Amino acid sequence: MSIKQIIYVSEETVVFDRLRLVAMLQKVRETNSRTGVTGVLLHSHGRFAQCIEGEQDAIDSLYLRISGAPRHTNVVKLQEVIVSSRGFSQWTMGCVSVLESEILRLSTSQWQRVVADHVSGRPWVSPGFVLMESLWTAYHDAQL
Ligand SMILES: Cc1cc2nc3c(=O)[nH]c(=O)nc-3n(C[C@H](O)[C@H](O)[C@H](O)COP(=O)(O)O)c2cc1C
Repeated sequence: MSIKQIIYVSEETVVFDRLRLVAMLQKVRETNSRTGVTGVLLHSHGRFAQCIEGEQDAIDSLYLRISGAPRHTNVVKLQEVIVSSRGFSQWTMGCVSVLESEILRLSTSQWQRVVADHVSGRPWVSPGFVLMESLWTAYHDAQL
């Protein structure tokens, strides 16, 4: 089945301390498990980076809702792709705290495919996504 995956970064409009983050995660995970959405949320002081993935309709409407959510702003989409399998299938929304510089590194990573690359016969994965996955791997033992 084809899965849509969207990755974006944003900035808090209210301070997300641990309590507020955990409270939001509780709701988000309930909703996501109902709608078949998986992904991860990376948080640093003031900034978010999130990957959401699932059926196209579910992701389109979720991204609209997220873009309009009042508790963050400057939502910038980094990547929107159709993939053959999920990157974070185990997580209804994994969440870890990372360094702000790591979120900034994600923002300035390469997300767009620059050269047509069917030579390897393998699906193209952006360097940005590889970085996001490696951050998740490095931090996920400290999951919130
Ligand atoms: C950083 C961030 C990530 C979110 N991720 C999800 C998500 O994965 N699934 C979901 O259903 N809603 C998500 N939301 C939306 C919220 O759950 C909520 O619907 C939205 O923030 C509006 O409610 P509020 O007025 O309490 O902020 C997210 C919101 C923010 C700010």
